[in-house]
Amino acid sequence: MAARKIITTQVAIMGAGPAGLMLSHLLAKAGIESTVIEIRSHKQISETVRAGILEHGTVNLLVDSGVSERVLREGDRHDGIELRFHGESHRIDFKELVGESVWLYPQTDVFLDLAARRKADGGDVRYSVTDTTVNDLEGKPRVWFTDAEGVEFEIQAEFLVGADGSRSYCRRQVPEASRTQYFHEYPFAWFGILAEAQRSSDELIYASSDNGFALISQRTETVQRMYFQCDPKENVAEWDDDRIWAEFRSRVNGNGFELKEGPVIDKMVLPFRSFVHTPMRHGNLFLAGDAAHTVPPTGAKGLNLAIQDVKVLFEGLESFYSNGSTASLDSYSDRALERVWKAQQFSYWMTTMLHTPTDAGDFSRARQLGELNSVVSSKHGMAYLAEAYTGWPGAR
Ligand code: PHB
Repeated sequence: MAARKIITTQVAIMGAGPAGLMLSHLLAKAGIESTVIEIRSHKQISETVRAGILEHGTVNLLVDSGVSERVLREGDRHDGIELRFHGESHRIDFKELVGESVWLYPQTDVFLDLAARRKADGGDVRYSVTDTTVNDLEGKPRVWFTDAEGVEFEIQAEFLVGADGSRSYCRRQVPEASRTQYFHEYPFAWFGILAEAQRSSDELIYASSDNGFALISQRTETVQRMYFQCDPKENVAEWDDDRIWAEFRSRVNGNGFELKEGPVIDKMVLPFRSFVHTPMRHGNLFLAGDAAHTVPPTGAKGLNLAIQDVKVLFEGLESFYSNGSTASLDSYSDRALERVWKAQQFSYWMTTMLHTPTDAGDFSRARQLGELNSVVSSKHGMAYLAEAYTGWPGAR
């Protein structure tokens, strides 16, 4: 058998999702080499439907670091959202409350922009790799993999970054004694659809009803993205269009508001949980994004947190390579986790405030309406939501 081909680089990155590609892009701009490997194909990643809300900080990083300005041209700036309950809508005006906005721009497009930029800049990104193993995480990490043509490689790097998603292989290489994991399970999931329909609203509607939660989001002029709370074991095959629309109607229509309906072109059940792995570093392995933490989608924080991790990690690597100091790398985990736990709290809060508990006693539901009212009737309550949703000021 032919010997493994050696790739020598400074930073090996597992995962070519937004976190891995953004890190590779920032490193390249600072003159630091990286090699990115990914088990999925470019096509598979670009066909995965993911969430779509970007904080202003994420948008600024995409634009200011020169990834692409497409988000500004093709994304939709949203200056607020609506919370809808008891048949009434209440607008949370982000712009007025905290002076910020978010952008509706699907994660798939963020991936496409980053992948195109890395390619144009000659970045070393290898999709569809197999048989990955890692060694020497506490020394000089080595990564073995087989590329799409069947050629076997060994990457010899100074650091390894695990940006390989919620089922992270890298995370599983950390010895049990060296980590703590936190979990929270929810008794429900989201039933997500893409529908060929006109927009029902220019902004997102987060609706809490006695029949459960629903979220009305958008994609284009003619395709919309929506979700409703369902049982995690729900079978999509049992839901035809009529049944789906009846469910949405029962959760959001009323008082003059009517959803615009159309053929459902995609449907899926999205289970979720809250998860954090600490610390986000083991030796010379650094975890970033979903590999280290997942949040329920209600707060729209997943992608934004991943990008924030990368920003903090990049600062550490840049400082190490420019002046040899490890201080910033040493504080990576603590600095990243500070924001992670804020986002965990926000996502948990939005989820429990808006979803109907499955054991819903009268008290739970009435209390929940009290909570929703306490938010929408108070400028401070709304400002808490607006600040968290649009993204807290930068990490330390
Ligand atoms: C989406 O558009 O897919 C979306 C938006 C907001 C969320 C979750 C998903 O909180």
